[in-house]
Amino acid sequence: MVKKVKIFSGSSNSELAKEIALILKSKLGNVELKKFKDGESYVNFLEKVRGEDVFLVQSTGFPQNDNLMELFLMIDAARRASAGKITAVIPYYGYAKQDRRVADREPISAKLVANLLKAAGADKALLMDLHTDQIQGFFEMQADFVYAAPAIIDYLKKKKLKDLVVVSPDVGSVKRARAYAKRLDAELAIIDKRRPKQNMAEVMNVIGEINEKNCLIVDDEINTGGTIINAIHALKKRGAKDIFVAASHAVLAGDAVKNLQNSEAKEVIVTNSISIPKEKHFSKLKIVSVAVILGQAIQAMHSGKSLSEVIQKQLK
Ligand code: R5P
Repeated sequence: MVKKVKIFSGSSNSELAKEIALILKSKLGNVELKKFKDGESYVNFLEKVRGEDVFLVQSTGFPQNDNLMELFLMIDAARRASAGKITAVIPYYGYAKQDRRVADREPISAKLVANLLKAAGADKALLMDLHTDQIQGFFEMQADFVYAAPAIIDYLKKKKLKDLVVVSPDVGSVKRARAYAKRLDAELAIIDKRRPKQNMAEVMNVIGEINEKNCLIVDDEINTGGTIINAIHALKKRGAKDIFVAASHAVLAGDAVKNLQNSEAKEVIVTNSISIPKEKHFSKLKIVSVAVILGQAIQAMHSGKSLSEVIQKQLK
């Protein structure tokens, strides 16, 4: 008999973790998570994990360092308690944008985080919509990767949008945008974006026909919102009709919420890979859940079934 999966949640996203547990007909395991008065994190599993297949759900968005440290401690505690296999389930992988050296004497933070997960004792990782596919190579352990697209596309299909063009907000997102366009039976356009400095985006050109078309801008994340806001302006200036925005990860830093709400976008569709606090909800925001995607992936990993078959079904 296949043993039940043991799922524990860190403090970053317990709602999503609960949903995942429900999908697996299980419930969250009991773990104490707290902070000492001096700010140090503390973790204690309050149930047995010896020999178990343990999945630890933690997104490493804001507060990134606290969430990361808590995850490292959970992994360490599970390892010392003789867990069978420890999988770090990271729906949003923070520090991913620092995936190469742009200037001399910079770190490659995305690689360092992967190293630290391994050093803490993780056997496997499950990640969703990494900033770039190359980050997969940073994981020197078994790692599986899933996509948020099925959740967003299911929602968009119900809208039955006509004359749709999927717009990639930069060259790096073309592969993702093309996959959306294919599944939504839409055309593709590409924005030529430049970053004169960190956290600043500029549109140079729009490649493709968007005049009098409805547009869907697709990105991996909305951070400060600069990329998306500039894309909306550029598309409107060139005659776009309704504009929708879809992003896997809602980082929503700085003035992103205010700027998106005041923008000409009709709707901003994101997932719950990052828990979005109530004060960041706005009327144009639609949050779709990725719990089924992650739940099915965990089930496949746990029972040794093919994950690629699961992903293919999800993407159909
Ligand atoms: C590429 O840089 C990424 O795919 C996103 O476009 C970017 O992280 C979004 O950042 P922001 O919202 O700050 O422009």
